[in-house]
Amino acid sequence: MPVIAVDGPAASGKGTIAKRLAAHFGFVHLDTGLLYRAVGWVVRDRLDDPRAAIAAAEAFDVGMTCGDELRSEDAGRAASKISAIPEVRAALLAFQRSFAGQAPGAVLDGRDIGTVICPDAPVKLFVTASVEVRAGRRHKELQARGNPSIYAEILADLIDRDRRDSERATAPLKAAADAFHLETSMMDADQAFAAALAFAAPRIA
Ligand code: CDP
Ligand code: CDP
Repeated sequence: MPVIAVDGPAASGKGTIAKRLAAHFGFVHLDTGLLYRAVGWVVRDRLDDPRAAIAAAEAFDVGMTCGDELRSEDAGRAASKISAIPEVRAALLAFQRSFAGQAPGAVLDGRDIGTVICPDAPVKLFVTASVEVRAGRRHKELQARGNPSIYAEILADLIDRDRRDSERATAPLKAAADAFHLETSMMDADQAFAAALAFAAPRIA
């Protein structure tokens, strides 16, 4: 089954692109960040204990990915801490691979879809934007949801998360060698989707 892998840093717009590509092709869609957020949320008070995170990941169930609290920056921060633990990543691998095998095709977005989860995906996108633009997008999104937030705090948090995600030893945030780089700092969501679709369409039979 064809897989579209969409990777990139926080608030680059990868989720929006992934959702729209899935709707366009009639494919299923998985936001893999939610898996790490769910595990991070379960152990949010025990983030220094890797065994707790590993046990939560081994007990992962898709029902754990529901709930508005998972969208919070606290959950994002917890996710980025526990996602550096190799056993946590290993425990979440089978679910992602089996999701990716679904008919008639799947779109997965995350950090390591094109490099680790689905290295044979016929379409790989690596979505980026400057960290200032990304912080602005996340800020606007939180305001729209009625969550008061401070731009400077979001910016500092994203810089921290980018560093942790890029520097970890296991499955760091990195573009696959054959990924199409989509720099969206100067694009709105419609323009970014149009560019992603122009790359993907000829590669999806
Ligand atoms: O939406 P946003 O990009 O802010 O975050 P997310 O995609 O929900 O991911 C939250 C955290 O989970 C990231 O900072 C990563 O540390 C981790 N993650 C990962 O390690 N691998 C993935 N495939 C997806 C997320
Ligand atoms: O999944 P990820 O964290 O990479 O980002 P997202 O949740 O898809 O997008 C973050 C926010 O940026 C959303 O409110 C989008 O509407 C907005 N946005 C975008 O996705 N793409 C652009 N080119 C510009 C803004």
